Amino acid sequence: MDTLIVFSSRYGTSEKVAALLSERLKGDGAIRVQNIVEQPDIDWETVDHVIVGSSIRMGAIQQEMKEWLKEHEANLLARPLGLYLCAGTPTESERRRELEEAYNEQLRTHAYFVEVVGHGYDFERMGFLDKAIVRMMAKQSGSSLDLDEEKLERLVKTAQTSSRTRSENP
Ligand SMILES: Cc1cc2nc3c(=O)[nH]c(=O)nc-3n(C[C@H](O)[C@H](O)[C@H](O)COP(=O)(O)O)c2cc1C
Repeated sequence: MDTLIVFSSRYGTSEKVAALLSERLKGDGAIRVQNIVEQPDIDWETVDHVIVGSSIRMGAIQQEMKEWLKEHEANLLARPLGLYLCAGTPTESERRRELEEAYNEQLRTHAYFVEVVGHGYDFERMGFLDKAIVRMMAKQSGSSLDLDEEKLERLVKTAQTSSRTRSENP
């Protein structure tokens, strides 16, 4: 059961989550992590299970990820699918709205996991404008990483259960 974790990330949080998941997922198959902005092509023949991660900036995910999701939708719907998002909004209703904006209804209905798993701010990598936005909107003045361990654990657990069920009943 080979797993592919794909992500898009502006300042590295979604990438850190992808790396974390690849360390924590245990199974008999290979686990690969791929940045779809740098490398959008996928050899779907080699993928049995897929996790997609992206992040929100000013209410939306990266344009490259939007296009990638459209192009690969049929392949995503044909495999066990986990969907995560990194987003800084503190309210549950806004997190739900951002998830709905990021991943369409078909993908969300098909997926075994659809959650915001936390957020991070990397002031070393952010430009002047983005730092100003974060200072103003998130009241943050330095780098931070705030991941939801309970949700990450749930993602790992359900990923393993979903992929096992699938390989037993292909
Ligand atoms: C300029 C800027 C705008 C942001 N806008 C939003 C937003 O509209 N909603 C939200 O929930 N989070 C917002 N965030 C928080 C990011 O989603 C969060 O920092 C996330 O971890 C970034 O992930 P990445 O480093 O993988 O891109 C914003 C962050 C920055 C830097």
